[in-house]
Amino acid sequence: MTTYVTTPIYYVNAMPHLGHAYTTIVTDVYSRFKRLCGDNVRFQTGTDEHGEKIAEAAEKEGVSPREYVDKISRAFQDTWPLLSVSQDYTIRTTDPDHVETVQRILQQVYDQGDIYFSEYSGHYCKGCERFLTEKELVEGLCPDHQVAPQKRAEQNYFFRMSAYQQWLIDHIIANPKYITPERYRNEVLSFLSEPLEDLCISRPVSRLTWGIPLPFDERFVTYVWFDALINYLTGIGYPESPDFDTYWPAAEHVIAKDILKPHAIYWPTMIQAIGLPPYRRLHVHGYWNVDNTKMSKSIGNVVRPRELVDAYGVDTLRYFVLREMSFGLDSSFSTDAIIDRQNSDLANDLGNLFSRSLAMIRKYAGGSVPAAVPAAVTDDDRELVTAMEAMIASYEQQMNDFSFHKALQAVWEVISLMNRYIVTNAPWELARDEGNNERLATVLYSLAEGLRIITLVVQPIMPAAAEKMAAALGIAERVSQAELAKDGKWGGTKAGTELGPLPPLFPRIDNKQKTKKTPDSRQKETKKKKEKNAAANEGLISLEQVGQVELRVAQIKAAEKIAQSERLLKLKVLAPEERTIVAGIAQYYTAEEVVGNQVIIVANLKPAKLMGVLSEGMLLAAKEKDDNGKERLVLTTVAADVAPGSRVA
Ligand code: MSP
Repeated sequence: MTTYVTTPIYYVNAMPHLGHAYTTIVTDVYSRFKRLCGDNVRFQTGTDEHGEKIAEAAEKEGVSPREYVDKISRAFQDTWPLLSVSQDYTIRTTDPDHVETVQRILQQVYDQGDIYFSEYSGHYCKGCERFLTEKELVEGLCPDHQVAPQKRAEQNYFFRMSAYQQWLIDHIIANPKYITPERYRNEVLSFLSEPLEDLCISRPVSRLTWGIPLPFDERFVTYVWFDALINYLTGIGYPESPDFDTYWPAAEHVIAKDILKPHAIYWPTMIQAIGLPPYRRLHVHGYWNVDNTKMSKSIGNVVRPRELVDAYGVDTLRYFVLREMSFGLDSSFSTDAIIDRQNSDLANDLGNLFSRSLAMIRKYAGGSVPAAVPAAVTDDDRELVTAMEAMIASYEQQMNDFSFHKALQAVWEVISLMNRYIVTNAPWELARDEGNNERLATVLYSLAEGLRIITLVVQPIMPAAAEKMAAALGIAERVSQAELAKDGKWGGTKAGTELGPLPPLFPRIDNKQKTKKTPDSRQKETKKKKEKNAAANEGLISLEQVGQVELRVAQIKAAEKIAQSERLLKLKVLAPEERTIVAGIAQYYTAEEVVGNQVIIVANLKPAKLMGVLSEGMLLAAKEKDDNGKERLVLTTVAADVAPGSRVA
């Protein structure tokens, strides 16, 4: 089998941070896992170096775009080895072969009539480097960058994306795993339920020179996404290289939700227009926040991968990000969270299991793994073998599905089981009586063998630690060349294998150490507080503030229209006690329609009289405008019935 897996190519207008590190670590873990499964793997990352915001950033620094992109792309490349990321190829969109490929594709698509010249006016967001539709704006702002996009009207070239809309819908429906997790697939399908506009793919040279010139009109350069997405083809030598034929059919892209649309809509339609088969899968993850706050330069809470590696070590960082984030959902980074994982999962569970087990093999078997004795095998050993087999199956499935946190959960379940196995089988007691020698040998063998399999499965996630673990088990060479299907089976450890030394794997981090206050940390704390206040001024709220709002599920028992009002319905709800709420939904819902529904209310709102009726809370509803600008309200509800009065948190 073949695997070709890519990260996004990162804009070089900012230095690498935790978000970039996460995507690249995940992709590295997946490629190491696929290698462990015996695949021929190609892993590509890179940098996206053209476009307006990069030209602007260079100008701000007073250097040429070329100098600027060289500097930042170097910073990205220098980061990957620190994270034990071992990509096969690093692409830069300023590479001459990439420029040539983009131009060749532009010419082909233009010649076949899928690129045309026209005028367009719309809302351009420089942060996204694309036009946003009216619907995407939230109160007139780009939801990702929180700035008002510029109104732009200009003549440009367009890619006939709309021509491929139906094909794309059909493809996504026919291939349920094309975009995962499912929530993002649904998001894309919902977007595609409206007519797709064609894609503006150029910029006039009068405004932007830092781009790839259109081969058929030198007054224009190509727009960033048409340039950037093609990196996935250039990197494997499209069209001539045999590598292209090998890897393209196996292409899988890893991205975060911010660039879903370009990857799930622009890119597949571009590929279809070029005449290539679609990529195999798109994996979309959520965003890392820091202490539950959006990571941002202006707040000053950007987490740099180098600092994390210096503080916790690369393996802890890799384990932490994979275990902590449910792939697809947002997650929050905090110093406490990473220290807890280090101390509990790594030092306590895994580290202790290793050091205890190996110490016992040294003490009771002279440092070489004894042979298990079939007659001395008990139900405990059989349970361990069955659990290992189940773990391998679940691990393989979850890793293939990009559910890394679940794969690790499965591994940690057998680690706990082995820790319990040591306690119940107490080798130190068996060692007291020579009559137990066979049982003791069997227990020690089980431990060595369990550790071997655990080493194998943690290898893609923590390669450096796995190397130490394998050396300590005396199987360094075997683990580095292992294949999961064969080596994941119980019984692979040869009796007589000599153990090597075990260096400390995961030192515990003193919890007090992290709270010890130095003048420097105090200063930092004050700065943090100030930044928190600044965040509040920017319209962000703290967790405490969120906690002040009491949201509850309410069951609507009865409803009636308030005679003097067009807008108001009087509702009797249970939450859990009965109360009256006056809601401004009468233009959208009849009284009969709402009775029986479970809705979400603000339960601790000061009561107020509306049209003479005392309202004791507020009902939440989504508000949107339809295409004619008419407002519509939709009641919020819960996904399954819950007890009335349940807290929403
Ligand atoms: N250059 C484009 C991508 C072109 S791909 C053909 C771009 N670059 S970017 O530098 O903005 O990188 C975006 C990607 O960085 C996200 O999709 C994600 O992989 C990673 N992340 C950036 N911030 C992140 C978080 N806060 N959390 C998780 N990942 C995030 O978009």
